Amino acid sequence: MSSSVKRHALAAAVLALLAGAVAAQTKPAATTDAPRFGFGRTPTAEQIKAWDIDVRPDGHGLRKGRGTVAQGQEIYDTQCASCHGVFGEQINFHQTPLVGGATAADVKAGTVAEFKKSNALRTTTNKLNYATTLWDYINRAMPWTNPQSLTVDQVYAVTAYILNMANLVPENFELNERNILEVQMPNRNGFTTNHGMRLVSGKPDTANTACMSNCAPAPKVVSDLPDYARNAHGNLAEQKRPLGPVRGIDTTRYESGGTAVASAAPSAAPAAGPQPKDLAARNACTACHGINNKIVGPGFSEIAAKYAKRDDGEAYLAGKIKAGGVGVWGQVPMPAQPGLSDAEAKVLAKWILGGAK
Ligand code: HEC
Ligand code: HEC
Repeated sequence: MSSSVKRHALAAAVLALLAGAVAAQTKPAATTDAPRFGFGRTPTAEQIKAWDIDVRPDGHGLRKGRGTVAQGQEIYDTQCASCHGVFGEQINFHQTPLVGGATAADVKAGTVAEFKKSNALRTTTNKLNYATTLWDYINRAMPWTNPQSLTVDQVYAVTAYILNMANLVPENFELNERNILEVQMPNRNGFTTNHGMRLVSGKPDTANTACMSNCAPAPKVVSDLPDYARNAHGNLAEQKRPLGPVRGIDTTRYESGGTAVASAAPSAAPAAGPQPKDLAARNACTACHGINNKIVGPGFSEIAAKYAKRDDGEAYLAGKIKAGGVGVWGQVPMPAQPGLSDAEAKVLAKWILGGAK
């Protein structure tokens, strides 16, 4: 090995080490989630790079490249005009026209007079405040039928062409990652952040006053399937998780005209009241809790031991069973069980404290 080759090899090794150190430093915090949930994996730098394509008004995220109005016209006429019209005027697909609705005076002022009209013409180029947004949108989403198929230079070119159709750059213009920040969009001063959507203290976009007396009763929101559609896609009770707030109703059984029958119990509860074992099975408690052993949550006997001496143990546990929670036994949460009645939660709490027999 000549000394110069050796030096190069050494330099390459040092660079590789440095790159490793940088990668380690910039590793996303996601790595710390792995032990917590026990699934998923840290994305690679390449995967993050492929997703992280947004371009911001200050130029953050812009890719180096360039394209002329003339190059852009070729791309536009072959790949965009069929939907957006030869002059960017078309709205066949309910998209906004790309150009129009702004005058030279608007461009100078940075606000668009058209928007004062009640039926104002809104177009892509008259409403945007930054040209980078136009670049970003085309880069991520267009052409509609084949998004992200354009090269960086092609995106610059077709953006330049649209800006030229809107009279915002001259015909001989070449757009690049530097001068795109200088393009003066007609509505650049027209955006306001002083409204309730953005600031709590801002002016709300809607007006209403809270009803304090004689108010209409709170509406009850329900959803219902008409009889003929009930079982059209199979039994919903079997297609939903048996835990958490949203359960599937048993769509094979219903009282016509009435509400659906609650999910069928594996064995009907005898008249004496709900059997704790059945309740635990029906509500998937035993999917997460063993009697003696931890599964996802602690074993029921561990819970009983922990609260055996507590006077209000039963009420406490009944409350926790309904509300769910996290942090007592670890970082995995227990889902809330809003479908359980207070009586059922009490039966379960008592059963657990008594050894879950
Ligand atoms: C097959 C039809 C089709 C083709 C081809 C197409 N577009 Fe679009 N474009 C749409 C539709 C539809 C929308 C609206 C999408 C939406 O709002 O979700 C849209 C939206 C846009 C917008 C944003 C409009 C706005 O203000 O909301 C821009 C900019 C745009 N297209 C540029 C292009 C460019 C540049 C090309 C060619 C490289 C292209 N489109 C090709 C259908 C098409
Ligand atoms: C998806 C899994 C899961 C299901 C389903 C589940 N649990 Fe839990 N449960 C947990 C986890 C995890 C914890 C520990 C939470 C914590 O650390 O605070 C827990 C904790 C508990 C506790 C102890 C609460 C405390 O503060 O110490 C009781 C009691 C309990 N579960 C009963 C039940 C009952 C009864 C059911 C069925 C109605 C049920 N669980 C369903 C996962 C589950």
